[in-house]
Amino acid sequence: MARRGGRATSRFTAYPGETATFAVWLCSCLLFLSAAEAGLYTASDQIVRLTPGNVVSVLLNSTAATVVEFYASWCGHCIAFSPVYKDLAIDIKEWKPAVELAAIDCAAEENRKVCSSYGIRGYPTLKFFHAYSTAESAGKAFRDFPRDVRGLRHKLIDQLETHGEPWPPACPPLEPTSQAEINSFFETNNVQHLALIFEEAQSYIGRELTLDLLQFENIAVRRVLSTEEGLVTKLGVTEFPSCYLYYPGGNFTRLKVNVEARTFYAYALQRLPGVVRSGKPPPVTTDGVTNSTEDLWRPFNRSRVYMADLESTLHYSLRVEVAAHTVIKGEALNSLKKYITVLVKYFPGRPVVVNLLKSVNSWLQNQTGSEISYDAFKEILDNSAQSPDTALPEGVRWVGCQGSRPHFRRYPCGVWTLFHVLTVQAKNVGGSDPQEVLSAMRNYVRSYFGCRLCAEHFENMARESLVEVSTLSSAVLWLWSRHNRVNNRLAGDLSEDPNFPKIQWPSPEMCEACHTVKENGDHRWNQDQVLPFLLSYFSSNSILKDYLEDEDQVLAKQREQHASQKLALEAQKRVERKAREALDLMMRPTSEPTVEEEEEEEEEGEEPQDEAVADEEEDGGEGAAAADDIGGKTSEPSPWAKPEMEVGRSRRQAHRKPSIVGMRMREVQEDIVDLDSFVNQHYKAKALQLAASSRVRPRTLQRKEEQEPGPVFGLGMELDGGLGMVGLQPMEADLELDVGQQRKRLQKRDLTGQYFGEGLSHRGRWMSMLSIGFSKVDISLCVILYFLSSMCLLAMYLFFKNRLKVRRVKISLP
Ligand SMILES: Cc1cc2nc3c(=O)[nH]c(=O)nc-3n(C[C@H](O)[C@H](O)[C@H](O)COP(=O)(O)OP(=O)(O)OC[C@H]3O[C@@H](n4cnc5c(N)ncnc54)[C@H](O)[C@@H]3O)c2cc1C
Ligand SMILES: *[C@@H]1O[C@H](CO)[C@@H](O)[C@H](O)[C@H]1NC(C)=O
Ligand SMILES: *[C@@H]1O[C@H](CO)[C@@H](O)[C@H](O)[C@H]1NC(C)=O
Ligand SMILES: *[C@@H]1O[C@H](CO)[C@@H](O)[C@H](O)[C@H]1NC(C)=O
Repeated sequence: MARRGGRATSRFTAYPGETATFAVWLCSCLLFLSAAEAGLYTASDQIVRLTPGNVVSVLLNSTAATVVEFYASWCGHCIAFSPVYKDLAIDIKEWKPAVELAAIDCAAEENRKVCSSYGIRGYPTLKFFHAYSTAESAGKAFRDFPRDVRGLRHKLIDQLETHGEPWPPACPPLEPTSQAEINSFFETNNVQHLALIFEEAQSYIGRELTLDLLQFENIAVRRVLSTEEGLVTKLGVTEFPSCYLYYPGGNFTRLKVNVEARTFYAYALQRLPGVVRSGKPPPVTTDGVTNSTEDLWRPFNRSRVYMADLESTLHYSLRVEVAAHTVIKGEALNSLKKYITVLVKYFPGRPVVVNLLKSVNSWLQNQTGSEISYDAFKEILDNSAQSPDTALPEGVRWVGCQGSRPHFRRYPCGVWTLFHVLTVQAKNVGGSDPQEVLSAMRNYVRSYFGCRLCAEHFENMARESLVEVSTLSSAVLWLWSRHNRVNNRLAGDLSEDPNFPKIQWPSPEMCEACHTVKENGDHRWNQDQVLPFLLSYFSSNSILKDYLEDEDQVLAKQREQHASQKLALEAQKRVERKAREALDLMMRPTSEPTVEEEEEEEEEGEEPQDEAVADEEEDGGEGAAAADDIGGKTSEPSPWAKPEMEVGRSRRQAHRKPSIVGMRMREVQEDIVDLDSFVNQHYKAKALQLAASSRVRPRTLQRKEEQEPGPVFGLGMELDGGLGMVGLQPMEADLELDVGQQRKRLQKRDLTGQYFGEGLSHRGRWMSMLSIGFSKVDISLCVILYFLSSMCLLAMYLFFKNRLKVRRVKISLP
């Protein structure tokens, strides 16, 4: 494939004018994307991979200077150099608007022409292309370039400084500043902070920091040489390097850092008040950011791990992500088994959750077939067997993973946190296989993680270096360092929450001892300190249990749901049975159905499956009996409910008689995945519309008169539709309470934020809304009955006609 693509492109470069080759070129571009993976760099490295298709757009007339590595993928020196080049790309990620890194694999046949056009003979060759390079520019080769990140970085700065006009527009001035410039600085620059780096002439820190902060607004960095006596004496500088913050009016303070080094300055300067990444909105205060009734902001400690996030992650991964596979087989099944196994071994959860994971695991291990259905898996996940003290709470409650907007953080944050916790737990518990957790994560991400590009990047990292993990400690550190690599790549990305900027984690404030410097002044992670920090940060006993849904409530909710599912199933069966019976009766016109039977038929003519209906049951028999034993224990708060609401509700429910109406509603209410609530809401809106247009059915009115003399709730005629639907239910006075409760829930879930009107009119609508599904079922049943009876009449007619004929024939016989 790659070879064919290569030839096609050579043809294109040979005759670029030929329009017929356009399609071929387009195809080959796509092929190159995959062909390029064969080189030493992947899409996950922050290096532009050059191809004949993009070389013009990347190198010519670019606003940034560009360094290109020409390499051959088979060359040993190139292979040895590639990790350094990748690290350089990570190190100078913030410089991108001024300097880009690129690479091209000259060993790939399709790239040969490009490489030879730049006169490349040996590998690796680094060339520097000025901003706004022209087609004639062949770039400037780095002779005997250093093979370490620091040396390369300095070389790059040297090149940038020799850069004549036009200067890359994004690149701030790099030359030392003077007293004169500082005096008039705030007149010409509209920034809040001016950071002055005092240093010796040969130091690069000032220039590096200038570039490190070029993507940040409200701050400017200038270097001041130790020979600039006016400023040095004015600020009383005695230490070089050191950093001072300078303000209008000549005020200044020294920047406090643990070590006087580039990374420490960068951490501190990027966190100054008012300093934001360009193009990002300033961080908003979190109180009231998401103050909608649907999603209250939960204050949390940013340097802690919350169990609520871990449980939410489990819920989302098992009930939403895995659910995307209706049939799970092959690699996906294997991934799921590994994932659950690792969870059972190391998830430091509450007993109920651990029990659930165990039961899922033992079920999964017993599945010897080549595939399972998600429905079967979900039965176990929802504990349909009703094993005691076994449940995975439904819904998500993000705490430490809350984002300032609904599309920030949440689930991916939870996934990282979960796997950090699992690697740490494996180390603390003493797992046997150092790669067990990481390969489970790799498999899970590959098979299920919804962000496919993320999965691809993660797979690239795993393929590259997961084999190096040989101890449980190195597994913890591997995930930490790869996560930091992802943070580096995503810093400033659209997906970055401005309130939670992506940093190299942990910051010096969180773990001072984790950071240190090499002899040459470059930053170095002190892994001897990072490991104990991670082990304690993610350890099971430092996980906070705040905001967790009460265990009893989780279990009660599950029982309720289970019972209502059973009811729904029974009701469905009953409907089917009645239909069959009705059919039989029609076929035997002589045996008259009794009045009671007819009535029963009417009562149960209900289709519980109909989602458009706020499902309800009219049934006083077995259903209510089944509901009886759970009715007393029912208490189910929406996961978003405030604690005081929960208390109030459970108190009220304690004396509430079982009401199937309430139960069915609660089931609908339970899913809190955003999409679900949206769908529910959509149906509710539809139902309300229908309710407004449909009139109360006479049958229900009549029944109400028969059985319920006088309006039970004193709500008048408006309630008729609704009362019709509960007409055959044992009426309890506290049904009203129930209705009120439902209304509250409805309000809470109203996505538009508009509440239903208070009082009677609302109740009326609400009630009539409930009756819609009923009439729908009724109508279909009527149609069926009508059809059947006409068929029956026809049959009878034919039968008697036949009999008459036979008789006539008999009579006419001699
Ligand atoms: C496997 C995987 C791959 C991803 N790939 C991409 C991608 O390619 N593109 C993309 O746009 N998004 C990707 N994401 C999502 C992205 O990494 C973030 O999860 C998401 O943007 C939310 O960011 P966050 O601010 O909540 O912090 P996250 O990065 O999600 O981190 C969550 C929490 O973990 C802690 N933490 C941060 N760094 C570390 C560390 N190095 N070690 C230990 N703990 C740490 C912090 O407390 C942080 O709040 C990926 C997510 C995962 C799980
Ligand atoms: C280069 O880019 C500038 C603006 O970025 C534009 O004005 C100029 O015409 C371009 N030159 C060429 C040769 O494309
Ligand atoms: C959130 O909104 C409610 C009303 O909807 C208000 O009473 C409450 O004070 C708000 N909270 C914050 C933190 O703004
Ligand atoms: C957050 O947790 C850290 C670590 O346990 C602790 O030192 C700090 O005081 C906590 N902050 C708040 C506001 O509780």
